[in-house]
Amino acid sequence: QPVSPCDFVVLGGTGDLAMRKLLPSLYLRDRAGQLTDDTRVVALSRAGLDDQGFRAKVRGELARFVDSSAHEERSVDRFLERLHHISLDFDEPADWPPVVELLGCDPERIRVFYLACAPSLFGPVSHRLHEQGLVSEHSRVVLEKPLGTDLASAEAIHDAVGAVFEERQIFRIDHYLGKESVQNLLVTRFANVFLEPIWNAHWIDHVQITVAESLGVAGRGEYYDGSGALRDMVQNHLLQLLCLVAMEPPTYVNREDVRDEKLKVLRALRPITGADVTALTVAGQYAAGLVDGAAGASYVEEVGLPESRTETFAAIKAHVDNWRWAGVPFYLRTGKRMDRRCSEIVVTFKNVPHPMFPGSEGTEEPNRLVIRLQPDEGMRLHLTAKEPGPGGIRLRPVSLDLNYAQAFQTSSPDAYERLLMDVVRGNPTLFMRRDEVEAAWEWTEPILQAWTDPRHHPRPYPAGTSGPSAATTLIERDGRSWHESS
Ligand code: BG6
Repeated sequence: QPVSPCDFVVLGGTGDLAMRKLLPSLYLRDRAGQLTDDTRVVALSRAGLDDQGFRAKVRGELARFVDSSAHEERSVDRFLERLHHISLDFDEPADWPPVVELLGCDPERIRVFYLACAPSLFGPVSHRLHEQGLVSEHSRVVLEKPLGTDLASAEAIHDAVGAVFEERQIFRIDHYLGKESVQNLLVTRFANVFLEPIWNAHWIDHVQITVAESLGVAGRGEYYDGSGALRDMVQNHLLQLLCLVAMEPPTYVNREDVRDEKLKVLRALRPITGADVTALTVAGQYAAGLVDGAAGASYVEEVGLPESRTETFAAIKAHVDNWRWAGVPFYLRTGKRMDRRCSEIVVTFKNVPHPMFPGSEGTEEPNRLVIRLQPDEGMRLHLTAKEPGPGGIRLRPVSLDLNYAQAFQTSSPDAYERLLMDVVRGNPTLFMRRDEVEAAWEWTEPILQAWTDPRHHPRPYPAGTSGPSAATTLIERDGRSWHESS
């Protein structure tokens, strides 16, 4: 079904995000017939391009970033016709009239302002859009993470953008929520009955959430060095995943119920402050190592900042202090330049209460549900079975496997495809609400403060490995270990 006619106005329209994600996603939705004939994409930037120059650039980028099986000359030509580029300096009122003229003054038309620019510009740009009369009740604004660098800066951004747009018009992107596998987490939990009765502290021993990346900071050093893994990944993506695992069943999967439930989880997170930061968290930074069989540079060499103490790895033992999760640790872990790309949620259940098979004491493995988010989306349930044979009962670990690509014979769309269409539909369910973002900052901030103390140094780990040994100790001293998928 096509979504309503609209204009996508991308501020920062020639940047990395626009080229890698936004334009390819819009192209794919166009190819799928979801954009009406009169839908336009207007890029604003300082690149000094005219429409033709911009279209030529995008043609080249689509060839790079769209899978060859979906890259079709006729569809590309049609998509390029929708594109416009206007060169402007956001701060210069004299640069805006061509934008106003191009967009026209139909107050009923949906306008999506996608702010793919530095967060420090979110407020000033919103103000400028308002001043130019471009904002109507049918406008929406999309904000890319990072939403600030701490609680105070996030509040300031929210206040400034909120002075122009109502909360219902503001779409804060966490692209993890647009991933098929992440939405499927909701479905797995709440469209099946068998998990919910055991999804609690009575039956679950602990939860692990790992988002490991094999890439380094590849060309994003300037942004990344001011951010680090805690701000770049934990405050948003990992906490959102934790919320979806831990939240109570929402009444309906609609605009507010899911966000209300996630907020309750964020507010129930036990604060990690003072000495607990040392005991419950580990920051790491990759040193030189072996990457794909070749010598890989260290983080500081890669970004050219020999003194940098920015963490490229974070591990945290968290607790959700509520009835359902009392005493169940959530171990979070994320890092760059790790031995592989793998995002998964591992739920380890408690062991059987009584070993009833003679000779089986100590041989039972606890049940585990491994939800693989990427790559190779799927689910694996680790069970215990009887080893075949006539000689008595011997227990053996086995697994039930579900691979989505095989089960559905289709590949998943990119998260941005779904999210961009939701913005046009005005459906904010998969976007973060202001109070969620601020609650996440509130919990993250004491760790951030401790880690930015000049006496704090991240622990080195060789590039191409599973992180610093302190992260292994963090979990092993509890008699548990990180799940490493085979
Ligand atoms: C982004 C981070 O939000 O997510 C990047 O800024 C990170 O540093 C990326 O690489 C990971 O996303 P994905 O979809 O590749 O897991």
